[in-house]
Amino acid sequence: MERIVVLDFGGQYSHLISRRVRESGVFSQVMPSDSSLEDIESTEGLRGVILSGGAASVYDPDSPRPGFDIFKLKVPVLGICYGHQLIAHLAGGCVEAGKSGEYGTTVLTTESAEAIMEDIPGNISVWMNHRDIVSSMPQGFKTLSSTGHSPVAAYSNGEEGIYGVQFHPEVTHTECGMRIIENFIRLSGAKKQWGMQDFIKTAVDEAKSTIGDEKAIIGLSGGIDSCCAAVLTSRAIGENLTAVYVDTGLMRHRETEFMHEAFSGKKMRFVIVDAKKEFFEALSGITDPEAKRKAIGETFIRVFEKEAGKAGAKYLIQGTIYSDRIESGVTKHSDNIKSHHNVGGLPKDMDLKVYEPLRDLYKDEVRKIGEKLGLSSEIIKRHVFPGPGLGIRILGEVTPEKAKICRMAGHIVEDELRKAGIYEDCWMGFAVLLPCKTVGIQGDSRSYKYPVAVRIVESHDAMTSNFKRVPYDILESISTRITNEISEVNRVVYDITNKPPGTMEWE
Ligand code: XMP
Repeated sequence: MERIVVLDFGGQYSHLISRRVRESGVFSQVMPSDSSLEDIESTEGLRGVILSGGAASVYDPDSPRPGFDIFKLKVPVLGICYGHQLIAHLAGGCVEAGKSGEYGTTVLTTESAEAIMEDIPGNISVWMNHRDIVSSMPQGFKTLSSTGHSPVAAYSNGEEGIYGVQFHPEVTHTECGMRIIENFIRLSGAKKQWGMQDFIKTAVDEAKSTIGDEKAIIGLSGGIDSCCAAVLTSRAIGENLTAVYVDTGLMRHRETEFMHEAFSGKKMRFVIVDAKKEFFEALSGITDPEAKRKAIGETFIRVFEKEAGKAGAKYLIQGTIYSDRIESGVTKHSDNIKSHHNVGGLPKDMDLKVYEPLRDLYKDEVRKIGEKLGLSSEIIKRHVFPGPGLGIRILGEVTPEKAKICRMAGHIVEDELRKAGIYEDCWMGFAVLLPCKTVGIQGDSRSYKYPVAVRIVESHDAMTSNFKRVPYDILESISTRITNEISEVNRVVYDITNKPPGTMEWE
């Protein structure tokens, strides 16, 4: 498939650029800025390269540089923000610190509406985020647009197929931004071969030819990624796919029934494993959060291995998506803040080949695929739920009784958010059961019961989040219902911590 590669110089919008290219119908992938010329050129169907923005100045000794001579590329190149400055600098132009920064929207005046700026009106509003400016052009380059602050806000060297824009065409605040991206795609000659309908067909064909007549297994977590991967794979191999849903005892309210309704009758072997006893035994006496995650992860692997053996599986299907792969690459040098356990994660010593049908998709693309595959809107729109489940929402030791309280309280939170019509505006809404008791008054008597913390957060990418400013009357309904309907709870508090410094989950 023909594609455009985005070289990532550390800018916060590298993935947004790639998504915009995909929205235009051309496949795009992000690669590290220090990739070699060989790596880039061996990318199947390469038609163009975009150099992303980044926070550095081209004069910083440590500023990120391409791992090769970009002028040797045989395909068109577009620089955005830092990429725009880098090309100008490397081609012999002058980049210098502007008198002040240029941040936010500004008016762009286009003197030559050609090449990358073809069909762009004389004055448009664009979004800027930089201090350095290109102050003089390398030889062979032509200035197309400017702003009051940036004398060279867009340039082209048509003969060499090199283009640059100082602003960010990928953000929605830039007028005609998509047209500018489309202009680059046109200049690159890339064919529009990327679309969700084609994706399903191609993925089913690929799954058929990869897995053949072998048996495969997938762990269903109830989240959209694993559900989508399962249904997609089942279209290719039918009953040779075994989908395993493990009831750990730490799942959402009525989750097992929900999964049963969602997957029974689909063309695959669907197995529900009741492993509550194993999980609670493994967690008995453990209070440390990391030790709990480890116990849950290991128990999951044991249960799953048994099922894989019964199914005679040679392949493990995983719902890994593009951002999961990027995240593990990007964060490989960072601190292990929490050891993530993902349901269906690859057991280290399992002799299974891994197949990841959604590996190239962004989350919004997975949702589109899910719709096309006929998954229910509840699966597509439901909140994220962590692999270790309620195990990390029950502080201290996890017991079946506490799981019941935490599960019901979480259900009430989600239910009230739905009723108030704000469920889909939240990244997650859930309850945390605290490991202490507080004094209350219920009826005419003193009570001494558990407090529950309600956590409702907004986020775009899970990396940062804000607590949701939920109207007080909704919070009051949540609190009243939790204390009325759960006899073990007499107090509800609301978590008003952003991430950072807090994480979304409490453990
Ligand atoms: P934190 O708590 O790190 O969570 O701010 C960010 C997002 O990740 C989810 N999460 C997990 N998901 N396994 C998962 O599959 C885990 O171990 C895990 N820990 C956190 C969390 O629910 C939130 O959506």
